[in-house]
Amino acid sequence: MKKVLGSLLVLSALGTLSSPAYAACALPEGKKVADLSQEELNAHYECSRDELVKSYQKKGNELALEYTKWKAVATGPAKPGVHSNRYLMTYVNPIGYDLYVQYKIGPDVEFPIGTIAAKESYKIKGNGKLKKGPLLVMTKVGNDKAPKTDGWLYSGVKASGATFKVSQKFCHNCHQAYTPIQDSLGYPVESVRLK
Ligand code: HEC
Repeated sequence: MKKVLGSLLVLSALGTLSSPAYAACALPEGKKVADLSQEELNAHYECSRDELVKSYQKKGNELALEYTKWKAVATGPAKPGVHSNRYLMTYVNPIGYDLYVQYKIGPDVEFPIGTIAAKESYKIKGNGKLKKGPLLVMTKVGNDKAPKTDGWLYSGVKASGATFKVSQKFCHNCHQAYTPIQDSLGYPVESVRLK
């Protein structure tokens, strides 16, 4: 696991040296996007991540600038399922990280106020190019500040770098299924959880 993240860091550092006109990160010869293995997805993500991050950061959004300092809570992007069939990769700030990566279930699971989870989302086109989705964010502010959404505030950054105006109700309608035992968090699919 450490190794994967290590090479991610190196690659994103290298990425900043290259030109801003991004070429598509090639898929393995003859492979369709839907047939990519998790390893191939991870390699494609390592190659593409810098481009994704730069998009979110384009307009100086504070969270977009901040979240790249946080650790990933998955070994690689989860295959599409929820969230509009996009690949998903989540990062959590130090306030909530240790608890998050236990992926705990139970009525006593409660994330500290100040926890922020940021989820990158994207699709992969046939030529390997990204179709970038928004960076989706959940911030724990506490029940007095967000009584209708069980203490969480939903927000986001579009791939253009602009603020994504999300409906608290829309997001929480789905996330509230996880409220009783996971403090409203969905957690990544099991196959990409950290061991
Ligand atoms: C259709 C149900 C659904 C809707 C609607 C939805 N989510 Fe999610 N969300 C999930 C599931 C399931 C996960 C966990 C899956 C994963 O990360 O692979 C998740 C994960 C997340 C995470 C990562 C933290 C975590 O583990 O829960 C964030 C951040 C997030 N969603 C933000 C949002 C925002 C912002 C909105 C509204 C724009 C939203 N979600 C709407 C189902 C939904």
